[in-house]
Amino acid sequence: MGKILVVGNWKMHLNASQASLLLHRLQERIPIYKDVEVVLSPSMLTLQPLSVQLDRRKFRLAAQNAYFVDEGAFTGEVSFTMLRELVHYVIVGHSERRRYFHEDLDMVKQKVAASVRNDITPILCVGETKTERDDGETKQVLHDQLLSGLSNLTPAEVGNIVVAYEPVWAISDGTNFADHFIAKPQQVAEAVDYIRRYIKDVFNDKASREVRILYGGSAVPDIVQGFLDVPGVDGFLVGGASLNYHTFSSIIQACHRWQRGGKEDADA
Ligand code: 13P
Repeated sequence: MGKILVVGNWKMHLNASQASLLLHRLQERIPIYKDVEVVLSPSMLTLQPLSVQLDRRKFRLAAQNAYFVDEGAFTGEVSFTMLRELVHYVIVGHSERRRYFHEDLDMVKQKVAASVRNDITPILCVGETKTERDDGETKQVLHDQLLSGLSNLTPAEVGNIVVAYEPVWAISDGTNFADHFIAKPQQVAEAVDYIRRYIKDVFNDKASREVRILYGGSAVPDIVQGFLDVPGVDGFLVGGASLNYHTFSSIIQACHRWQRGGKEDADA
């Protein structure tokens, strides 16, 4: 595989000084890796100050959300256009946004399109709830989310985006992630295989090979190696474990070790 992609989604945690301190610690601990791309997704409030503090050789930034209209009377919103100079990525359609902020399939579709239009790579989150899995609807849910989310894109654009498979039932509340109900590699393998096959059928083979697919949901250092062995998994979208510099840097190190076939060293 190419570079492993690891995205730390800080969700609605850390004020400006806490975020700055965490970045400082991460910059101390994480060397420049050529085989792992590390992306931090802090709150909207701290994107600007962190962009100044950030060592660009080590990290890139992602916004957790944005609004799909480029400019206008939309009180409280920040557009993709406003974020273009600041971030490489935007997380779109996270299950928490779908659930708590009622983002429907059409809104997620418009956000993916706005992201691509503004030269920002969307990280499109898809995944089923526990009830949907229990009812055997996982593939149908993934189908519907991919159908709408990707519908405005060309095959070349699809090849450039990131899809994060985040089963909703495996996402922690940010405090108990270590012993949360994590997905099994086999379940992830089936979902990732479905996503790549969908993209191959609807777009083309190249798009299906080039699109990067992440796993998200209670990701901790211990699971990294096993999940990278799952065919088609290119990295992780990490929530709770990204708020602690020790666990997050351990995840990055484990990815680097996996790339080196298990060999220890800090070859940067
Ligand atoms: P956790 O890693 O805390 O389960 O969060 C996953 C997630 O929602 C990342 O976007």
